[in-house]
Amino acid sequence: MAKILEGKEFATAIKENVRKKVEEIKEKYKISPALAVIIVGNNPASEVYVRNKHKACEDLGIVSKVIELSESVSKDELLAKIDELNGDKNIHGILVQLPLPEGIVKSESEILNRIDPKKDVDGFHPVNVGKMVTGENALLPCTPAGCIRMMELAGIEIEGKNAVVIGRSNIVGKPMLHLLLQKNATVTLCHSKTKNLKEMTKQADILVAAVGKPKFVTADMVKEGAVVIDVGINRIAPKKLVGDVDFDAVKEVAGFITPVPGGVGLLTVAMLMENVVRAFELQGV
Ligand code: GUN
Repeated sequence: MAKILEGKEFATAIKENVRKKVEEIKEKYKISPALAVIIVGNNPASEVYVRNKHKACEDLGIVSKVIELSESVSKDELLAKIDELNGDKNIHGILVQLPLPEGIVKSESEILNRIDPKKDVDGFHPVNVGKMVTGENALLPCTPAGCIRMMELAGIEIEGKNAVVIGRSNIVGKPMLHLLLQKNATVTLCHSKTKNLKEMTKQADILVAAVGKPKFVTADMVKEGAVVIDVGINRIAPKKLVGDVDFDAVKEVAGFITPVPGGVGLLTVAMLMENVVRAFELQGV
C-alpha cells in the first residue's frame, strides 16, 4: 500500500516560505511583488485556475492583477497588452493562461515569446527553456518544478533512479525530462507513438503521468514500490476530476502516489508564487 503524497502539506510549506520572503521585500523595498495574469475568453477550467492563482497571491501579500480579454481579441491587441506589462515596473510576473481560444491559438509561441524572460513566471519563454536545459539559473515551469520539489520535500531520492515520463507536452513532459535529468535520474520520455509502453513503465522507479487520459496508467504498468506522480486533471463528470492514473488500483502496487485532486496541482500554484518572488529578485528592483 503506497504512501499518499498530499499536495496540501507540501504546498503550504512552500507558500509559508514565500510569505516570509514577500514580507522581507515589503520591509526592504516598500513595494510588493506583483503578478499579472491574462485570461482570454471564458474557458471554465482556466477561470478556476486563474481564480486559484489570484487567491494564492492575495493570501501571501503578492499584488494580483487579472486581465480578462474577450475571446475575439486580436493577436496584436494581446501583444500590445504584453508590451505594456513588460514596460510596467510595478509588474514583476506575467502569465498568459493557456489554452488560448481558437482565433489566436496558432500564434501561441509568438505570444508567449513576447513576455520579457525576466517576468516569465511560467518558464515558457525560449530563453528560460534554454537556460533550464543547460542548467543555468532560470525561471522554471511550475508543474514539473513542483513535482521535483515534492519528491525532495518527501525525502525521495532522484539520483540514479530510472524515471519514466509519459507525455511530451511543452508545459509538462519535456521540461519534466530535463529537470529529472538535472537531478541525475536516467530518464525515458514516452509518448503516443512509443512501442511497448508497459515494458518501459515497468522499469520506472519514478513514473510521471502527463497524458491527459483518465486512468491511463493501470496497476500492471507499475513496478512494485515505484513513486507514481499523476499530473493529469481529467473532468469525467461535472463535479468529478480524475488523474491519468488508476489511483485505487495503483496505490496497492506503488511505494508513493499523488492523488488527483489534491496532489501536484496544489504545488503548481505554490511554485508560481515562488517564481513571482524570484522574478522580482531577477529584475533587481
Ligand atoms: N494551462 C494549464 N496549465 C498551465 C500553466 O502551467 N500555465 C499557463 N499559463 N496555462 C496553463
